[in-house]
Formats: sequence, structure tokens, C-alpha cells
Amino acid sequence: MGIHEINTISVIGAGAMGHGIAQVFAMNGFEVHLVDISEEILENALSRIKYSLERFVKKGKLSPDDIENVLNRIKTYVELSKGVRDSDLVIEAVSEDINLKIKIFEKVDENAPKDTIIASNTSGLPITAMAEATKRSDKVVGMHWFNPPQIMKLIEVIRCKYTSEETAELIYELSKKIGKAPILVNKDIRDFIANRVYRAIRYEAYLMFYRGEHKPVEIDSAMRYKLGSPMGAFELTDFTGAIEIELLADKSINELCTKYPDWEPHSEYLKFRQYALRVPMEYYKKGFLGVKSGRGFYKYPKPGQWSRVDIPEEAGENVDLISLISPAINLSAWLIENGVTASNEIDLAIKLGFRFKKGILEKADELGIEKVVETLLNKRERWKSEEYSNFYIPQKLLKNMAKKGLNFYD
Ligand SMILES: NC(=O)c1ccc[n+]([C@@H]2O[C@H](COP(=O)([O-])OP(=O)(O)OC[C@H]3O[C@@H](n4cnc5c(N)ncnc54)[C@H](O)[C@@H]3O)[C@@H](O)[C@H]2O)c1
Repeated sequence: MGIHEINTISVIGAGAMGHGIAQVFAMNGFEVHLVDISEEILENALSRIKYSLERFVKKGKLSPDDIENVLNRIKTYVELSKGVRDSDLVIEAVSEDINLKIKIFEKVDENAPKDTIIASNTSGLPITAMAEATKRSDKVVGMHWFNPPQIMKLIEVIRCKYTSEETAELIYELSKKIGKAPILVNKDIRDFIANRVYRAIRYEAYLMFYRGEHKPVEIDSAMRYKLGSPMGAFELTDFTGAIEIELLADKSINELCTKYPDWEPHSEYLKFRQYALRVPMEYYKKGFLGVKSGRGFYKYPKPGQWSRVDIPEEAGENVDLISLISPAINLSAWLIENGVTASNEIDLAIKLGFRFKKGILEKADELGIEKVVETLLNKRERWKSEEYSNFYIPQKLLKNMAKKGLNFYD
């Protein structure tokens, strides 16, 4: 199927992501079928879309007459079989539960035309598992949007074990056609690129706190003012509710890793991650879930009410930025060495996905690759009694670059 043959797009799941994805396609002239389990949820999704369209009008990005045109392009369905029967592309955006997603893929496969492409908006579950639930695994692909889909430019296009070149290419081109900035993820790896790289920063932040090196406010200050991230790792964790999301996601990790070993192939990273998750676990046990519960790493006015945390620039004065981000640079080098993606795509992902002023590898060049390698070696030496410290062993790519005086962007 070619990109010009895509006219009708079904979106399964009309929640936070699904309604926004449906809106973007309708705004770009596609016929959209939005599917969820109740009329009430679908009505709610349509009013969220209307509200968002009105904001586009207020900003002068949409003419008032177009609200009606866009809404007329969206039809809603509670029966999935009807919602996908004449679609050229189906995007699954149901809750992050692998068993639910597998069921949805089976049902879409049974009811959609045989050439229809099926994409998943999962944040990091194995797309390969979803492809195996269909009889068209070459037409299954990851299409990972960022929240809110109406605004965020980044889309990660993920090739699972079976995705054909043609399918990946089509989703990549379609993403460009609707004004997004796609990056290609060549392997179906847990959390893909933006989240995986960001998490390596967050886990090191957790560990620095756990080991008594710095307080959250100090690390967050360094992230805001030295790294150019709009929020620090701890405040962002509180804001998104990542403590709970991450710990719940980790419950199914062992089973999925056994079944799909290629999905989490970096064993040193896995140990590092699991050790670092001790920190949110302590908070979780106390019921400190972030903004949602009124308290996380910081305190908020009341449960569910966010207010920007006061983080002074001076608080981060003693935080060594290289120490904080060198593990994420090492992880990025692993991704490049293993053919998952390229350096410019990693930087694009982190800039567009997390609104960093500079890419993590641009920052690595600026700080000095030799210094990054030296910092990693020091960390490894300091924590060598802990198994997770193997993650600090510099990747070959970084060592060679340091030896030859090379940069990521020469
Ligand atoms: N929220 C984010 O920031 C974000 C960002 C990127 C990707 N994602 C991913 O997008 C997906 C959806 O996340 P969300 O935040 O929109 O969740 P959500 O809970 O807001 O929405 C999920 C929707 O799926 C619907 N659903 C459940 N079972 C269904 C079924 N059998 N048939 C049809 N619809 C069904 C639910 O009723 C709900 O409306 C998840 O895989 C998530 O990991 C989320």
C-alpha cells in the first residue's frame, strides 16, 4: 500500500492519546473512525477534540469554519469490528496492558481489510508480541506519539521483528505528511529512544539521591539550568505520576523478558534500572505518588493540584552535570553500536520528546567525550561492589571516540 492510498484511519481507544491522534488526522483531511468501549467515553473524546480545536482557532491556526469540517470527518464506534472494516490504517491506543493489546490486534486482524496496516501507540511494550497475534505481521509497526499529540512533534516509528521496510517507510512518510518529526527505531526495544535515554538520566538522578550525593532539588536545578530541560527529573516524575506508572509496568517485566529477550537486550541497563527503582518504591509504599496524591519528591497544594516547584539556580551549583548524564550518554552509545538508531535521531528524540534545549550527544561533545569516559570509569570504580555498576563501563564506541579525539558531530 502506498501513502496516497491511506484515506480512512481508525483509532482504537479514545483516551488521552487516542482522541488527540484522531484529531490530528481529521485536521489533516483524513476520514477518522474513533473506537472505544462506551458511548459516554466517545462523547467525552469528541468534546475534548472540540475544545482543542477552539484553542487552535484562538491561536489563529485554524479557521472557525473548519471546526465543523474537522468534526464531521470523525465517526465514533463502540463496535470495533465495524470501526475497522474499511480502514487503510488502524492505530491502537488502548490502555498499556499487553494482554489487552494482543486481544485488540487479534480482533482488528479478523475484521480489517487484509492490506490494512496496524500500528501500536504503546509506550514501550513489545510490538513483536502484537504482530504475532495477527496473520499480517509484516504490516504491524510501532507509531509512538507524545502527549499531547496535537502539539508534540515527535513520532517514533518502530520496526518490530516482522515489520516490512515498506510498512515502516509508509508510517514514516505519513508522519511527515501530517507535520510531525518522525524518527526510525530499527529494533523493538523496550521504551524505544526518547523515554529510554531520558530514563537513564532519571535513574542516575535517583541513584545520586539514594547514595546521598545530592538532594532532588539540587539535581533538578542542574537539569533546569545547566542541562536546559524545562523540568528536573524529580519534578517531572511527580508531574507525570511516573512513580506509579513505572512500578506497575515493571510487574510484567520478568515474564515479557523471558518471552521476548530481544525486547530488553541490554542486561547491564536492566540491572541499573532495577536497582534505581528502589527509590520510587520507597515513595510508592508511603503513598507519595507525586502531584496525584499531593506529595511525591515535593509537596503540592492538594492532591491533583500542581504548582511549579520553586527550584533556585544556586541549588545545583555543586552538581556535576557530566556525572548526571554520562550514564545516558553511555546508553545512547549502546543504542548506536547495536544499530537501534543514529546519534542525530537520539538528539532529535530528546529535544522534541522532552523539550531539552540541546541533544544529549550535542551536550556530550560540549562537555568532552574524554571527560565523559573518565567520569564513567570513576563511577564504575567507586561502585564496583554493586552489580549495577557494570552499566558504567564505557561502551567501545565512546572509548574509541575518546582515544581518537572524535565527537558525535564532527
Ligand atoms: N498518556 C501518555 O502520556 C502517553 C504517551 C505516549 C503513549 N501512550 C500510550 O498510549 C496508550 C493509551 O494511553 P492513554 O494515556 O491514552 O490511556 P487512557 O487510559 O487515557 O485511554 C485508553 C483508552 O482505551 C480504552 N479502551 C480500553 N479497552 C478498550 C477496548 N477493548 N476497546 C477499545 N477501547 C478500549 C479506554 O476506555 C480508554 O478510553 C497506552 O499504550 C500508553 O502507554 C501514552
